[in-house]
Parts: sequence; structure tokens; C-alpha cells
Amino acid sequence: MNVLVVDNYEQLSERACSIISRHIQSNPTSVLGLATGSTPLGTYKELINEYEQGRVDFQKVRTLNLDEYAGLGPDHPQSYRVFMQDHLFKYVNIDQANTYIPDGKANHLENECVRYEQIIENMGPPDLQLLGIGENGHIGFNEPGSSFSSETHIVELASSTREANARFFSSIEKVPNYAITMGIRSILKSKKIVLLASGERKAAAIERLLSGDVNEEFPASALNHHDDVTLIVDREAYKQI
Ligand code: GLP
Repeated sequence: MNVLVVDNYEQLSERACSIISRHIQSNPTSVLGLATGSTPLGTYKELINEYEQGRVDFQKVRTLNLDEYAGLGPDHPQSYRVFMQDHLFKYVNIDQANTYIPDGKANHLENECVRYEQIIENMGPPDLQLLGIGENGHIGFNEPGSSFSSETHIVELASSTREANARFFSSIEKVPNYAITMGIRSILKSKKIVLLASGERKAAAIERLLSGDVNEEFPASALNHHDDVTLIVDREAYKQI
């Protein structure tokens, strides 16, 4: 794993943006794997800025998001579809038809998982996958104990994840109990992975990740099996001795 330690969140966002923009410049039809959560917000802001300055063109880019809450349709304000619209898609020239996110309100969620995995198969896995990390080591919504051979599937969210994400909802009761997520195997198919971690609350997870111990109880540790992962981490999240 290539580890880039930066001073702060701004630098982290700039570095991530620069990797993604360069990738799109050299491959305008890139498949980008995108993540939600607070961590990539700065990266998305920087990317919008790059677009506005005419340095990056999203016209032919295709995107695949990692996950979506079960029960939240694409119009729900807390859905990851709305999150992506509000923080990136509506500000750049991406073709909405080229943006894929699981449908959390599909009639049959199991079928939706199969459909989504098929989309990944048809498009080819992401050329570049952006990832955040949960405090418990989750990636996407693959909670501790998720099989490393999993493809897109339904997960029950850990109570710690629901608590961590409650800040986006009016109350914790409103946080869905289940989600659809790309599986660990689906994520590891990405050609290149950029993992972001910022702030002290991620320090324990990053320390455990970098210990090299690979264990399904710590989902992010699967990334140690991938040969092109860049971790961009700020000093608060990087407390190695
Ligand atoms: C959510 C998302 C993850 C994200 C994680 C961390 O659970 N499903 O993809 O990495 O939160 O979020 P944050 O960046 O807000 O700490």
C-alpha cells in the first residue's frame, strides 16, 4: 500500500482530486467508483473547481457508487443518490445516464443486488475506486464479518455505523437498518484504489489497517490483498509510532 501522509484535510482533498483529474485526463471514458460520507466532500469540491476551470471533462466518464441505504429511493433527501447529485453530479457535465447507484427502493432488493453486480460486470470494474473507511473498518457498507468473497449484497448496518451516520438524519431512528453495498470482492476488482482517511476518529482504523493483519473482522484489511492502493491520510488520522 502506498501511503501519502498529508498535513490536513485540505491537502488530502487536493491530492485525491489531482489523482482523479489526471486519471480522467488520460482516460476520458474512465469508470470511476465513488464513495459517500463526509471524507470525499472536499475532493468533490476540488473536482468541481477543476471542471469549472476547464481542466477536467466528465462528459464521457461513467460512475458506480459503492452503496445505498435500503428503503431510501433516489428522491429521498438522505439517499446517496441525492448526496451525489448535491455534491458532485449537478455541478459537472456528467451524463446522468452514466451514473449508477443501487436503487434502495427496488421492489426486490435481492434482485437489485444481482442487477447492480451485472452493471459492474458489463461496464467493467472501476478504473479508479475512491473509498472512505468506517471507524470499525467498514468499506462501502461491508461491516466487520463480511466475507471477502462477497459481491453486491444486502447488509445489516452495525449500530456503531448507524450512530456515526445519524448526523445526516433528523434522528437515529430514521437511519435505515439495512443497506445495499458492493461486496469486498467487487471492490477489489477495481484497477486502482484511493482510500481517504481524515481526523482522529479514524486513527485506530488506520493503525489497524497498516498493521498488515488481514482479517474479515476488519473489512478494510482486504485492501492489503490489492496491488494498487494509495492511502491518503492526514496527520490526525495517522498516529503511527
Ligand atoms: C458510510 C459510507 C462509507 C464511508 C463511511 C465513512 O458508512 N457507506 O462509504 O466510507 O460512511 O464516512 P465518513 O467519511 O463520513 O467518515
